[in-house]
Amino acid sequence: MTGDLSPIDKAKFVAAKRAVEFVEDGMRVGLGTGSTAAWMVRCLGELVQRDGLNIIGVPTSVRTADLARQVGIKVTSLDEAKWLDLTIDGADEYDANLNLIKGGGGALLQEKIVATASDMMVVITDASKQVDTLGAFPLPVEVIPFGWQTSKALIEEILVSMDVMGRTATLRMNGDAPYFTDEGNHIIDLHLNRIGDARQLGMVLNQVPGVVENGLFIDICDVVVIGFGDGRLEVRNINEGTVVEDKLDFVETENLFADMDD
Ligand code: 5RP
Repeated sequence: MTGDLSPIDKAKFVAAKRAVEFVEDGMRVGLGTGSTAAWMVRCLGELVQRDGLNIIGVPTSVRTADLARQVGIKVTSLDEAKWLDLTIDGADEYDANLNLIKGGGGALLQEKIVATASDMMVVITDASKQVDTLGAFPLPVEVIPFGWQTSKALIEEILVSMDVMGRTATLRMNGDAPYFTDEGNHIIDLHLNRIGDARQLGMVLNQVPGVVENGLFIDICDVVVIGFGDGRLEVRNINEGTVVEDKLDFVETENLFADMDD
């Protein structure tokens, strides 16, 4: 069945499959959002159902919560769980220091809160998302709907003095209407091309009235698991300074592939 998947989907799948090896019985696990994270949720669901793995999941979006319940993972809120052992999530970009841009799927706010409340964050990705300098992927900034145009204008104003290579800001749309996050906010995507000082930009953006959070994840990610279409894997651990190469043989198990819609 994996033969039907595109190389990118295979890469996402092998990264997800390897990443769930970090999950141990009894853990409270943050469940990321997006197509790569959906693979991880399915892989975890398989471990729960097949091997009796006992975990509690804290989803970062309504769609992840729905999928987790569908595959048999018990879910709870972050307020109930309070602190998490591990979060596994995707990313839109990562650099050599494992700093990230996230929020392409619109869930950056919950994702950042959940990742920050975790002892460890593991990012699952394919190699196409690695960059020397963050910024090729538009940086999502979540703003409250009230006065969003003012927040956007203020963001554009501060970008003038930032070390970036583009300064266009666009309101994310869902067809003809503005996009709404699960928290009822809008997203402004910043087309910066290259972010010279991501740490500074992240801090400055969060000072703008109306901005709730931005998609720069600085010093939050501990491990990146990079999957390749042929089953190869690379596991980079920034704390240990290690890079481990591995290979996963595809197995035709796979209920996992029966019902893919994320
Ligand atoms: C959602 C995210 C996702 O992790 C990111 O967009 C990557 O998504 P995908 O795995 O579908 O490429 O940040 O807010």
